[in-house]
Amino acid sequence: MPQSSVRPSAVIVLAAGQGTRMKSTTPKIMHPIGGRSLVGHALAAAHSLAPEHLVAVVRHERDRVAEHIESVAEGLGIASLAIADQDEVPGTGRAVELGLAALPEDLEGTVVVTYGDVPLLTPETLERLVAAHEADGNAVTVLTAALEDATGYGRIVRDGEGLVERIMEHKDALAHAESTGDSSFVEIREVNSGIYAFDAALLRRTLPAISTDNVQGEKYLTDVLGMARAEGGRVASVGTDDVWEVEGANDRRQLSDLGRRLNDRVLRHWMKEGVTVVDPASTWVDVTVTLASDVTLKPGTQLHGATQVATGAVVGPDTTLTDTRVGERAVVKRTDATEAVIGADAVVGPFTYLRPGTVLGEEGKIGAFYETKKVTIGRGAKLSHLGYAGDAEIGEYTNIGCGNITANYDGEKKHRTVIGAHVRTGSNTVFTAPVTVGDGAYTGAGAVVREDVPAGALALNAVSQRTIEGWVPAKRPGTSSAQAAQAADAQVDAPQG
Ligand code: UD1
Ligand code: MG
Repeated sequence: MPQSSVRPSAVIVLAAGQGTRMKSTTPKIMHPIGGRSLVGHALAAAHSLAPEHLVAVVRHERDRVAEHIESVAEGLGIASLAIADQDEVPGTGRAVELGLAALPEDLEGTVVVTYGDVPLLTPETLERLVAAHEADGNAVTVLTAALEDATGYGRIVRDGEGLVERIMEHKDALAHAESTGDSSFVEIREVNSGIYAFDAALLRRTLPAISTDNVQGEKYLTDVLGMARAEGGRVASVGTDDVWEVEGANDRRQLSDLGRRLNDRVLRHWMKEGVTVVDPASTWVDVTVTLASDVTLKPGTQLHGATQVATGAVVGPDTTLTDTRVGERAVVKRTDATEAVIGADAVVGPFTYLRPGTVLGEEGKIGAFYETKKVTIGRGAKLSHLGYAGDAEIGEYTNIGCGNITANYDGEKKHRTVIGAHVRTGSNTVFTAPVTVGDGAYTGAGAVVREDVPAGALALNAVSQRTIEGWVPAKRPGTSSAQAAQAADAQVDAPQG
């Protein structure tokens, strides 16, 4: 939800780069951390400023990336999104020039530029950037950070008064040092994050005039800063102490580092809100998850997507929940659940697999080695051990015995099993769907329920047990079973002392 007090006219998110170092068939900006793609995080941060317009500039894998960006924008509730196509002219300057071309020609005010592969930039820092830009009447305000190793980054070159004079790209600083012997630019540690607030009219005036006359043969967006100075504009900076905020993900190692860092941030947030995280190192929570106070997350827990956990619930150890709702005080251990709803005070696990459409009522239980799918289970009902329940409805306070199975598939179609309230089913009951069991009915151990069972009835399959005395010694002579049987007989026959 946008919460910003400063509303820029537009945010342009640059996402045309190729990202070859990921060595992936998936475009770099579509790789996920913390439950969102890299560009998803960039769009969420941009959206937090509530800009009038939002533009994403694309080129590499254009259709796939554009489709992804559009679907992320829809999910975030971004109303005004434009996709701009970068042409064969390379460089961040060209990208912004084409991004600007997708906006109204008379656009005024502040245009923010961010990168689609910089996922940890916070709404707070963006707001600080825009607020400083507007309060000081700057032509350009650039977000900077001081790095130990500035390799690859544009260096912030300041004048005698400490104002930003221009940005010199790493490769150009190296070339300068080589040709003049002056390495002072290379030694600058303050770097350009690539995130800026610009005056819209300044961009329109300067971008077309930027040349590709540099070491990389690109149109540098950074040239706008020097041009703004030349026409008398004020160029300033806003710094961030958190260098992770400006870090891009260029390869898998950086992706993993940023993912870990983002997760730490998310966990710290929830701990501040009263969540106990027993082992932050093995607990992963997506940015889209909601937790109440007094939730406990045990080691090895992963919470994904739209998962919500209510107060007092204990999740884990070793539990993965995706798009799942957990009610108050529920206990969910060693469980894998997707699109499930677990009621208040319910108990799930260990070793339990809840598939989409599982709805467990309050105080219900789904125990060890159970798989469920599209099943509504009433309050207080228990499926304690070993079984499968799918395409079914189970009434309140019903007890499903060990090893019960809803046989929902006839080889062609799926069918429903409806079991009433306060039912007691014997171990190894198989429900051959479609079938209905009335309230308060019982089934015997091993029953195969092919026909509806009325309320209060006992369903059995009348096959009585046949016992053939002496069968094993006669038919399996000499086996260990036969010897054991004979030893048992000898004990019975021995005279009692
Ligand atoms: C750029 C900055 C540099 C800064 C660094 C921070 C320029 C000239 N240099 O470096 O000062 O320190 O970012 O990371 O701006 N992109 C496009 N189209 C292009 C080129 C890039 O959309 O033609 C996008 C990329 O997808 C990426 C971002 O712009 O998201 C930055 O591109 P990248 O090549 O990583 O930046 P540098 O040129 O190395
Ligand atoms: Mg580049």
